[in-house]
Amino acid sequence: MDYLQLEGIKSLNGTIKISGAKNASLPLIAMTILAKNSVHIKNLPSVVDINTLLKLLTNLGASCDFHDDKVLVNTSNITETKATYDIVKTMRASILVLGPILTRFGHCEVSLPGGCAIGQRPIDLHLKALEQMGAKIDIKSGYIEASAPNGLVGCDIIFDKITVTGTANIIMAAALAHGNTTLTNAAREPEVVQLCEILNDNGVKIEGIGTAILSIHGTGGKCIDIKEFSVIPDRIEAGTYLCAAAITRSELTLSHVEPKHLSSVLAKLQEMGSSFTLTKDTITIHPSSDIKPVKIVTQEYPAFPTDMQAQFLALATQANGVSIIEERLFENRFMHVSELQRMGADITLNGNIATVNGKNTLSGTDVMATDLRASSALVLAALVADGITNIHRIYHLDRGYDKLKEKLQAVGAKIKRLKE
Ligand code: UD1
Repeated sequence: MDYLQLEGIKSLNGTIKISGAKNASLPLIAMTILAKNSVHIKNLPSVVDINTLLKLLTNLGASCDFHDDKVLVNTSNITETKATYDIVKTMRASILVLGPILTRFGHCEVSLPGGCAIGQRPIDLHLKALEQMGAKIDIKSGYIEASAPNGLVGCDIIFDKITVTGTANIIMAAALAHGNTTLTNAAREPEVVQLCEILNDNGVKIEGIGTAILSIHGTGGKCIDIKEFSVIPDRIEAGTYLCAAAITRSELTLSHVEPKHLSSVLAKLQEMGSSFTLTKDTITIHPSSDIKPVKIVTQEYPAFPTDMQAQFLALATQANGVSIIEERLFENRFMHVSELQRMGADITLNGNIATVNGKNTLSGTDVMATDLRASSALVLAALVADGITNIHRIYHLDRGYDKLKEKLQAVGAKIKRLKE
């Protein structure tokens, strides 16, 4: 197993190119199941989760030709409709194939994803919505068995709670359904918006894109032709590197980024003292030597993302004063706190609220990555810690950060990838 070794540094300097968004790529790859042609996707990040989903599709019989940041996916030769436990257990987002396989083939089996480090993460809303569309769903021996031999039928669905992959799953299911589906309380994340836009550009009419009420006009079982497209930039990767600049009080430029998707993150960084120069696709962060404390509540887009909570918590350890960070989406998303405490952070946890009593002197030590974004919080802390920090279990980082070591090294970080 590999680990990352970082040495605390004075500052970073230069430009980081932001990769395509992992969380946009996953539903867009699943969407190729709806296509009758081979689909070209550009600007994919080179991360393990993408390989996992492509492997899942390959196991079903699809062909996937992935090199550099491009993939050509042909799903016309899919013969299998079962997503097995060995893959699903490594990536919960595998559930994204349920909607498209069921709507195209009339049946699908997907292993239940099970628990997760950051919370229970049920998929009841995905299943309830598919049942409303006429699917028969049984849970047997750890598998979801879904069937709709005559196709799914559009209907009115109201999500009890906003779910990102749930929204994507039902949009894809509705795309080939008979009639119209209205989805109320839909997620409005940019990754969901891109899925809608691509479908809408390729023969599935969708109204209300970017709003909480989507109306999807199904094709009545007909697969669609999907033209080549490019994945949107990764707003969470971008946010993480902005925090790297802020915590090291460095000026950094991010290129190939979409500033509009980062409004809530930029607003919080501004409150903490940073300022920015923005163009259409770059952000230059001008840091402040005095990092101010902050109050953050994680919520659905366009509010502050839960996927940036851990990184801001690391940043708050360097703020002059008391920051309060409340996690509203996942019940157990503070696993990074105990590792940061081992580095010297003064953090008190009370349920879903973390109080950070800055400013803390951090010291390098051995720490363990516990989930994807928690791992990046440890990288940020290590950048300003005294001495050497070894971050173990970095397979979590590999799931979602494209060339993190190389990107940080290129702007001056002292970071090595070593074998245990
Ligand atoms: C997606 C993102 C993840 C991000 C999360 C919240 C991908 C691949 N992953 O995860 O990075 O942290 O959105 O922005 O895009 N819920 C239910 N029942 C359901 C579905 C969800 O109760 O059927 C609950 C979840 O437990 C959670 C909340 O709804 O408390 C939001 O979860 P959801 O938006 O579904 O997260 P994911 O789509 O899994």
